[in-house]
Amino acid sequence: MPTCSLSGRPCYPCTIRSTLSLMLEHLDQLETTGLAELEAANDADALEQWRIAYLGSKGLLKAAMPMMKEVSKEDKPAVGKRLNEVKKTLEETFKTRKETLSAGKADSGPTIDVTEPGIACGEGRRHIISRTIDEIIEIFARMGFSVAYGPEVEDEWHNFNALNIPADHPARDPIDNFYMNHEHLLLRTQTSTVQIRTMEKTKPPLKIIAIGRVYRPDTHDATHFSMFHQVEGLYVDRNVTMVDLKTSLFQFAQAYFGEGAEVRIRPSFFPFTEPSAEVDMKMKVKGKWQWVELGGCGMVDPNVFEAVGYDPEEWTGYAFGLGIERIAMRKYGIADIRWLFENDARFLRQF
Ligand code: DAH
Repeated sequence: MPTCSLSGRPCYPCTIRSTLSLMLEHLDQLETTGLAELEAANDADALEQWRIAYLGSKGLLKAAMPMMKEVSKEDKPAVGKRLNEVKKTLEETFKTRKETLSAGKADSGPTIDVTEPGIACGEGRRHIISRTIDEIIEIFARMGFSVAYGPEVEDEWHNFNALNIPADHPARDPIDNFYMNHEHLLLRTQTSTVQIRTMEKTKPPLKIIAIGRVYRPDTHDATHFSMFHQVEGLYVDRNVTMVDLKTSLFQFAQAYFGEGAEVRIRPSFFPFTEPSAEVDMKMKVKGKWQWVELGGCGMVDPNVFEAVGYDPEEWTGYAFGLGIERIAMRKYGIADIRWLFENDARFLRQF
């Protein structure tokens, strides 16, 4: 029992005081050494050692808990409060230290070798058909044509009837068309459908091209595919003649295939034009100028004008439809249409 400084005799109250101060001292000590050791812990291992020693289930903080039993009732709150403070300080400082150490690690030098050769990322590009379409639109836009679009799933009215293709025409044969289960719908076989759709909702005069996919159940070979693209042209105004038609085609040929390109039209038949003609263009194929058949054209048939509500006595027009794959294949020397749609990057990368 300690000697009381007041009475000079062994004193019970002084025992309690000293227990209290001893405990507070102990807790101060725990805090100071704990913080110092934490400061010295320089890597993840040391940090973990520290955590076990101080905060672990058999650590120093836990070991200090039973002290509470030895404190008098009045002093319990003071010791308890201090114990909590120390615990909180150590836990929080530990957390900060851990974060600092792991952040420092990331900054402490490159973990990747920046001198290693990189992994080449394959450069993408537009498909050659998409590029051809863009170029064609560009040229016709300069000639005053705007671009019109229509649906790929069509009804018989737009694909046949309005285009003056009679009900018993062989072009309607199910063998030559992708009819849908749904009645009277099919995948359009020609972009001429867009002529009808545009005229139905536009008053003349008009000057449009329509570009898009068309579908026919052809057996695939080097020159046939069940889906391909067409560019359709339609010009309606007063006093339009075959001369305007041939001039426009010629201007396109010159702009697209270069000087030296020519256009030839040969009499033919299409239900929606009268007269009708096949279009050939003279273009450079593998360095040599050659005639290539590209599609059809003609003067819009009066029956077509009537179908869309235009007065055939007042309005005249020309129309044409050209195959885009044909144009691209000849221009770039592509021998097989299937290559265009197989999406083999080694092929596509060449253009
Ligand atoms: N639609 C025709 C076809 O797919 C091509 C065609 C011919 C379009 C004459 C026209 C045209 O606009 O006047 O075979």
